Amino acid sequence: MTTVLSVASECAPLVKTGGLADVAGALPSALAGHGTEMRTLLPGYPAVMAALEEPVAIIQREKNLFGGPARLLHGIAGGLEVYVLDAPHLFEREGAIYLGPDGKDWPDNPERFAALSWMAATIATDGAAGWEPQVLHLHDWQAALTPIYLRQLGSADRVATLLTIHNIAFQGLTDAKRLKALKLPASGFTADGFEYYGKISALKAGLVYADKLSTVSPSYAIELMTPEFGMGLDGVLRSRRADMTGILNGIDLEAWQPPFKTLRAKAKLTKSLRQEMGLPDAGGPLCVVVSRLTSQKGLDILLEALPRLLAEGGQLALLGSGDAELEKAFQEADARHSGVAVKIGYDEALSHRFIAGGDAILVPSRFEPCGLTQLYGLRHGTLPVVSLTGGLADTVVPANAAGIWAGVATGIQVHPITTDAWEHALGQLCAIYRQHDIWNRMQKNAMRHPVGWEVSAAAYAALFKDIEKAA
Ligand code: ADP
Ligand code: GLC
Repeated sequence: MTTVLSVASECAPLVKTGGLADVAGALPSALAGHGTEMRTLLPGYPAVMAALEEPVAIIQREKNLFGGPARLLHGIAGGLEVYVLDAPHLFEREGAIYLGPDGKDWPDNPERFAALSWMAATIATDGAAGWEPQVLHLHDWQAALTPIYLRQLGSADRVATLLTIHNIAFQGLTDAKRLKALKLPASGFTADGFEYYGKISALKAGLVYADKLSTVSPSYAIELMTPEFGMGLDGVLRSRRADMTGILNGIDLEAWQPPFKTLRAKAKLTKSLRQEMGLPDAGGPLCVVVSRLTSQKGLDILLEALPRLLAEGGQLALLGSGDAELEKAFQEADARHSGVAVKIGYDEALSHRFIAGGDAILVPSRFEPCGLTQLYGLRHGTLPVVSLTGGLADTVVPANAAGIWAGVATGIQVHPITTDAWEHALGQLCAIYRQHDIWNRMQKNAMRHPVGWEVSAAAYAALFKDIEKAA
């Protein structure tokens, strides 16, 4: 049995801003049948503290953990066995977990997640009331200082680290003046350490010092090593090529169990979604989007290509929130076109109705480490139309001539990621929609595509076993 402590800044169903939470929430039970015992270390946000059942304090009182007192609690929350870093000065804040009331990152985010990482290294060093992790599974920049702290605490030879990159766009950059406040050794502040163009980069620290690296799809693992996608860290990643692997995300098959048994029953859900969103049936597919509205997601490209979909009788229903400009642009499109309906906000229940009722799900991302919504779409026979990048490239079998001839296609892949190519793809989607046999075949292929955790959980388990250090 390999014991693994997963260190994550968000975790479904407790706190979520994106797919990282889904992955952190799903992996522990997915790994249970694979000889891995995974527990999770989380920040004590109000939602986590409120959900924590029968907490026991393991570390009673740290007097000054990055600016205030802290405790480590152990208990069950959201169905997971968790350790919670109860540090009110860092985490007892209402609202979005990373952002203050002004919509900007909390200025002390570096300290908040340094504290999380420090606690991970402390658990690895001292154990947690008798439980000792052999491996630390670190997610994104928020956990990426852990390998440095492990060295400082003298346990890097005993406990192995895997850093998983969910999104290289977030690097945890901080002013160099905070070296001391973050308990970082000045000797590491060099180009081959954690310095990034004069700043401290938490993510780079992990990329340099973790034993192994992974990301959430094989294609993104390769893309990350190129200047186009590496966001300045491609060189570091190339230098660690031998330690880098890509393991696809799965989805929670129970949470995303289709609420229908037959395609006829699905058609009824499409009809009620049209009614709910006030969208007419003009003979084309009902396309859905469920997404953060940020430039990563390429929704501005979709907006430009949209007239083509509408001209062919298709509609768009979008659920999302994020950048004010994109929210406004979509609201304007909603007002202008009867075939467009936009719901700004975050709504779990509505997202399920979108995925189940849509004919197609559109994911026009400029880059996408893995992407989960195309996987939900596959499971529901809601055909994904995706940019050819990252995990989107790895999970959709394209309806090109070969894919259709072989009868294996599950969706459409768009390349290059431009308005022209997206217009073309939306036209192709409508054409296929009119060919009922091909469309039905694709829906059936999609629904058979394995999108659960089985294969990837086995891959993680093998990796953890591999890097576990001799006692
Ligand atoms: P990312 O993590 O980059 O946002 P993913 O596709 O990996 O992208 O994960 C996004 C997750 O957030 C999915 O579970 C998706 O259903 C959910 N999601 C995104 N926006 C919304 C929204 N407005 N309402 C409900 N769920 C959303
Ligand atoms: C990130 C990525 C997304 C991925 C998710 C979970 O938020 O943007 O592509 O699916 O992490 O790994």
